[in-house]
Amino acid sequence: MDSFSTLIRTASHEQHVEAETSTFMSDLLGGRLGMDAYARYTEQLWFVYEALESGTERLASDPVAGPFIRPELLRLPSLEQDLAHLRGPGWRTTLTALPATRAYAERVAHCAAEWPAGYVAHHYTRYLGDLSGGQIIRDRAERTWGFPRKGDGVRFYVFEGIRNPAAFKREYRELLDGVRADDLEKQRIVAECKRAFALNTAVFRALGEEFPLSA
Ligand code: HEM
Repeated sequence: MDSFSTLIRTASHEQHVEAETSTFMSDLLGGRLGMDAYARYTEQLWFVYEALESGTERLASDPVAGPFIRPELLRLPSLEQDLAHLRGPGWRTTLTALPATRAYAERVAHCAAEWPAGYVAHHYTRYLGDLSGGQIIRDRAERTWGFPRKGDGVRFYVFEGIRNPAAFKREYRELLDGVRADDLEKQRIVAECKRAFALNTAVFRALGEEFPLSA
């Protein structure tokens, strides 16, 4: 039987392709969007990471989610630095969540509060993605809008505390393989991961509508 880390990756593969090739992501990676669209996207990430990271102190002692809580992953401080750079020092006063973002953040917050195994699905979907495809997005953002390499504007994608991302991802998959859940609960985690991908795609769809290409 496949390991759990293989199962969750395989099960979400199709939706990964869908997210990756969404109009908004394609336009972003293709360098066709303005910095305003990138800033708007970064604002949406703030709400998601606020939900992912505001309950970490409590989750750290949870037997299922606890092993996944690593300080070197925390993204909120970097997101706030990026937003101050992108929107200026008053970034908080103009920050708003799209309805799709609100729904995503609410689901994460619900899992964080009520269902630690479901929280793991959201944790995996975001952080392993940020460590992987996130690096492609960073590279594209640096080239398109001229941010300093790994500097202000793209700090969200820079994991200062992770020297070797490949090794970290290997260890992360080992954590997934050792997750303390029975088979039924593992199936529920996989289903929640698919839901997490769908929530991300919904945010991309909304952003795509807000930033259509005139061409
Ligand atoms: C343009 C956007 C994206 C690109 C180019 C991209 C690219 C990649 C690549 C190349 C990998 C494989 C890395 C490896 O095996 O080490 C990966 C893995 C992953 N990506 Fe993405 N990705 C994108 C968007 C997303 C999004 C939107 C999500 C979810 C929010 C996501 C979640 C993940 C996850 C969870 C993995 C880890 C899969 C695993 O090994 O278990 N990605 N991505």
